[in-house]
Amino acid sequence: MLSKKLSSVTPSFTVGISTKVKELKKQGQDITNLSIGEPDFFTPENIKEAAIEAIQNNLTKYDAASGVLELRQAICKKLKIDNNLDYEANQIVVSSGAKHSITNILMAVLDPGDEVIIPAPYWVSYPEMVKLTGGVPVFIDTKKGNSFKLQPEELKDAITKNTKAIFITNPSNPTGTVYNKEELKMIVDICVQNDIYILSDEIYEKIIFDKEFTSIASFSKKAYDLTITINGLSKSASMTGWRIGYTASNLELAKAMGSIQGHLVSHPSTISQWAALEAVENCEEATQDMVKIYRTRRDLIIELFKEIPKLSIIKPDGAFYFFIDISQLKDSLDYKDSLSLKVCDDLLEKQKVAFVPGIAFGNDEFIRMSYATSLENIKTGLDKLKKYTESL
Ligand SMILES: Cc1ncc(COP(=O)(O)O)c(C=O)c1O
Repeated sequence: MLSKKLSSVTPSFTVGISTKVKELKKQGQDITNLSIGEPDFFTPENIKEAAIEAIQNNLTKYDAASGVLELRQAICKKLKIDNNLDYEANQIVVSSGAKHSITNILMAVLDPGDEVIIPAPYWVSYPEMVKLTGGVPVFIDTKKGNSFKLQPEELKDAITKNTKAIFITNPSNPTGTVYNKEELKMIVDICVQNDIYILSDEIYEKIIFDKEFTSIASFSKKAYDLTITINGLSKSASMTGWRIGYTASNLELAKAMGSIQGHLVSHPSTISQWAALEAVENCEEATQDMVKIYRTRRDLIIELFKEIPKLSIIKPDGAFYFFIDISQLKDSLDYKDSLSLKVCDDLLEKQKVAFVPGIAFGNDEFIRMSYATSLENIKTGLDKLKKYTESL
């Protein structure tokens, strides 16, 4: 009796892994978890205090569907200072996490059968969100040799008369790749020539090492009109559970998304929104402290991988993930359908260490490791990974 739509939706691999890890931990097993996609830091104190203050001041009633005005104004200031983008508060829609922002966008722009280009490897939820909102995901397999960056020719080849939008994730989950300005411009020019909406997922914007970040909407007036900038506080302010994300877009789209959201959920929790206002205005130092720690971990991991010759990596310039090439293990393993699932199952069962199979991100010859965890866990986990490769 379930809808036809649901039959094409794949259950989340990442949720599947964390459920398995929880089960094993419950049984008393000592699991090293390198699969988690959220910061291992607590939300900074000043943000927590802002939420408590909001409760005490009774800021707990319904508010504007697009989000608390003061927060939207603060986001406009942030976008001007950090990204050189001019937006008015009525172009901002605050939602329950970037995940919800993306769903709002897709509901606002897609008609049944519209195609959405998704460069692979991609963030797990994009294809399912597209399918659930009536669209058709069209994948482009980006190459390891290009650091998984979409190439202009690959994009041109994928565009059809039905193409409505494209996802660009910068920095990328799962690869940690960061596009430079010139690379982005080539992609944006093609999207502009073909009138394609650009869903620019900038949620890892602040977690970047030695590279300059460019917001896609900043390229030109036409790019600004076609781009929906997606961002949020989950990663930069370590606020995953507070569920605050936002979009910046042209006014027509913002109004449409505000209306959709108004009918479906009204708006995200006002308490979280007042906390988010503090995060947008006063979190830069805490974020940069976290970034320093991520960088130390990344550099250590690069060294540790030198001792695992059967696996190879690309140095990530942002986010907190390594996408690990496991293709050299292929010939030593007996598996049916998926190499990455086999490797992750083995690692969990035999070595008690959790990674996410690349198949979840559209590339079965890789596994994803998160370094949003302690140095101790990282060392233990990579030691287990090394032992596993040596056992084959
Ligand atoms: C690339 C990317 N976009 C969006 C999200 C969703 O974040 P949020 O917690 O704001 O919904 C994530 C979370 O893992 C992500 O990795």
